[in-house]
Amino acid sequence: VRAPEKSDKFSFGLWTIGWTGTDPFGPDTRPALEPWEYAEKLAELGAWGITFHDNDVYPFDADDATRSERIDTLKKAAEASGLVIEMVTTNTFSHPVFKDGGLTANDRAVRRFGLRKVLRNVDLAAELGASTFVMWGGREGTEYDSSKDLHAAHQRYAEGLDTVAAHIKEQGYDLRIALEPKPNEPRGDIFLPTIGHALGLIATLEHGDIVGLNPEVGHEQMANLNYTHGLAQALQAGKLFHIDLNGQKGLKYDQDLVFGHGDLLSAFFTVDLLVNGFPNGGPTYDGPIHFDYKPSRTEGMEGIWDTAKANMETYLLLAEKARAFRADPQVQETMKAAGIFELGVPTLAQGESVADFLAAEEEFDAEASGARETYFVRLYQQALAHLIG
Ligand code: GCO
Ligand code: MN
Ligand code: MN
Ligand code: MN
Repeated sequence: VRAPEKSDKFSFGLWTIGWTGTDPFGPDTRPALEPWEYAEKLAELGAWGITFHDNDVYPFDADDATRSERIDTLKKAAEASGLVIEMVTTNTFSHPVFKDGGLTANDRAVRRFGLRKVLRNVDLAAELGASTFVMWGGREGTEYDSSKDLHAAHQRYAEGLDTVAAHIKEQGYDLRIALEPKPNEPRGDIFLPTIGHALGLIATLEHGDIVGLNPEVGHEQMANLNYTHGLAQALQAGKLFHIDLNGQKGLKYDQDLVFGHGDLLSAFFTVDLLVNGFPNGGPTYDGPIHFDYKPSRTEGMEGIWDTAKANMETYLLLAEKARAFRADPQVQETMKAAGIFELGVPTLAQGESVADFLAAEEEFDAEASGARETYFVRLYQQALAHLIG
């Protein structure tokens, strides 16, 4: 497969390659580099963009001078290596102050502190030219249902999001908020656990027009859901603002594996959607191909870069396979036989009223229809043959 190019729009979180391997059972297995060192290496490997949390670049308690000095060094490194800072996000989960959340903590002073931290970071995101502002509310949630007024919690969540969105509009920033759902971890139950839950809350916002989604593969799969279906629904709602690609093997802790190292067939159909779009047309995603994974704790400093390369290589391999799959005349034939294109035809005729529809005398043989062939398995096997053939 060819090497990654800028036009592929591959992007990485600095916290991904920067993860040093700490987990609840043991300390770091790797040293930490400076954020700009990771950025330079990513550019060398063919990445187009980088993303980060405020505290991936400067410490939580950094003074203003340290903060701006470190941001400046990263900005210069990004410029020098031709990297776009496409997304910025806020750490409202590491410091103990956020142990009960940032926007939905019971403690109002914590919420006011958290909201200021987010707003300050919005200003930074705009200053650095980012187009997406991700909000992953990892600590917004509970272990105990008795610990929160759940209605008030959702109201405070909505209030926080509307405040951030209103600020973006007031300042005239060219920035959109992308919510990142996750069902659990670190909280027992996180608010906005899935794409659907997030879409539901967005619909209630005053400034929901600039609030969308940043769905992560593993997070939907942790909820036993289909990532590609989730992307499709976000696209249908005009809300697929950003994506986090990675791998997950079934229902367990958030593995953040390399993209494709979990459910490979699901990854294939995700890439099929991203590169080929829906078979009958419709909305498409042309944003960054962003990887949010973790080089496994077993890997050393060389392994970090093996894993970074693996994400891009897997995506490119799958893109090649997905294009060949859709272009294959036999596949097109099976798609036609399977009714894929027929689903693009509206159920009612143009201008047909419900009364006309109900009055229409149509021949329909339910028995024969029930016995029809669908060719769904034939089509799936053709996909599989393209994938592993
Ligand atoms: C996770 C999440 C996080 C967020 C990131 C952005 O694995 O739980 O993916 O990594 O994406 O913190 O805020
Ligand atoms: Mn994750
Ligand atoms: Mn993520
Ligand atoms: Mn992650």
